[in-house]
Amino acid sequence: MVGKPMGSELRVLLVEDDPNDAALIRRSLRGSGFVLDCCPTLGEALKRLAEGGVSVVLSDLHLPDSQGLETVRRLKEKARGVPLVALTGTTREEDGIEAVRAGAQDYLRKEEVLGPHLARTLVFACERQEVERFKEELVRMVGHELRSPASTAVSALESLRDGAAGPLPEGAAMYLDMAIHSLEHQLATLEDLAQAHRAGMGRLKVEPRDVDPAAALRGVADELASRAAAKGVALTADTAASSPVRADPERLRQVLTNLVDNALKFTEPGGAVTLSVKPHARAPFAEFTVRDTGPGLAPAEAANVFEKLYQAPLGRKAGGLGLGLYIAREFVQSQGGLIWVESELGAGTSFHFTLPYGRAFAGRPASTGAGPASG
Ligand SMILES: Nc1ncnc2c1ncn2[C@@H]1O[C@H](COP(=O)(O)OP(=O)(O)O)[C@@H](O)[C@H]1O
Ligand SMILES: [Mg+2]
Repeated sequence: MVGKPMGSELRVLLVEDDPNDAALIRRSLRGSGFVLDCCPTLGEALKRLAEGGVSVVLSDLHLPDSQGLETVRRLKEKARGVPLVALTGTTREEDGIEAVRAGAQDYLRKEEVLGPHLARTLVFACERQEVERFKEELVRMVGHELRSPASTAVSALESLRDGAAGPLPEGAAMYLDMAIHSLEHQLATLEDLAQAHRAGMGRLKVEPRDVDPAAALRGVADELASRAAAKGVALTADTAASSPVRADPERLRQVLTNLVDNALKFTEPGGAVTLSVKPHARAPFAEFTVRDTGPGLAPAEAANVFEKLYQAPLGRKAGGLGLGLYIAREFVQSQGGLIWVESELGAGTSFHFTLPYGRAFAGRPASTGAGPASG
């Protein structure tokens, strides 16, 4: 599709209920090489999209059966890979920008459909979609190509270290451990990229069941105990009994690991990292907390830490990709919870997240949601 020259066939699905506007657009595209199909409602457009063969959708946002950004969302849901140009009736630029944020590749105000604008916008929307697709495919493929040799190398080095090829010379195990450790770091980074990619595509896999939160905290604390000890940071988990939560156990482990990994990375020797869980103050949710005595975050940093690729200056110095908290947020939200941070420069950081209690829980009825106590 990319670089498709004007004059070759691009199939445009026009979703427009106003016959005058539809006629205007038809006229504007005459002779430009586009083949135009027209639907007056979202329902018909979704059916048409399911049949396939549409190169680009040009849609009014206000239709008899769908209004505003809902139109963008439903069209993109049906055909994620088909580019969408939103037609906005108003002169408010914000409406178009919001449509792009909701997934459209571009927007045009209705008074702009005359002249060369329209054809050019449709071609550019196709190009942009193609670039997005290529980027996603690249991340997926490169990730896969780098991951398999690294895993093979880890297994081979572990066998060597464990004596599969005979006794090792003095000191060799230490060098093998260093190699294994750095390959494992590379594998974890690639796994983060793959997860972030899946989250961005709306394809996170979660299989919730009833999970014991205290056991989850203990598991992560045990797994990271040697790293904490090596750094001289006290890592403790408050594992008082708690009702089961409804979560995918592997995802819960990953969220806790990402938070504790950060806490250990940023806390100086002599500091402490504490994991705990308690009932949320207002709703039948469990609230998990990972608290550290590290450097803390300035308000502007705290406001951005969950964004994809964001790192505060200290974070950039420490390495990493800035994806751990983004992935944590996507997982927590996909399981019905919320995640937030409380921090002050110089006074440590607490990350909190909530998860609903499991089926076995006979608690209070749901009230106002399960987020930060202050709002
Ligand atoms: N416990 C913490 N204390 C101070 N800063 C933190 C903490 N956790 C996260 N941050 C900040 O948030 C940024 C994003 O974290 P994350 O998404 O895990 O990415 P990464 O660890 O790869 O940098 C970090 O780079 C750091 O600036
Ligand atoms: Mg991190």
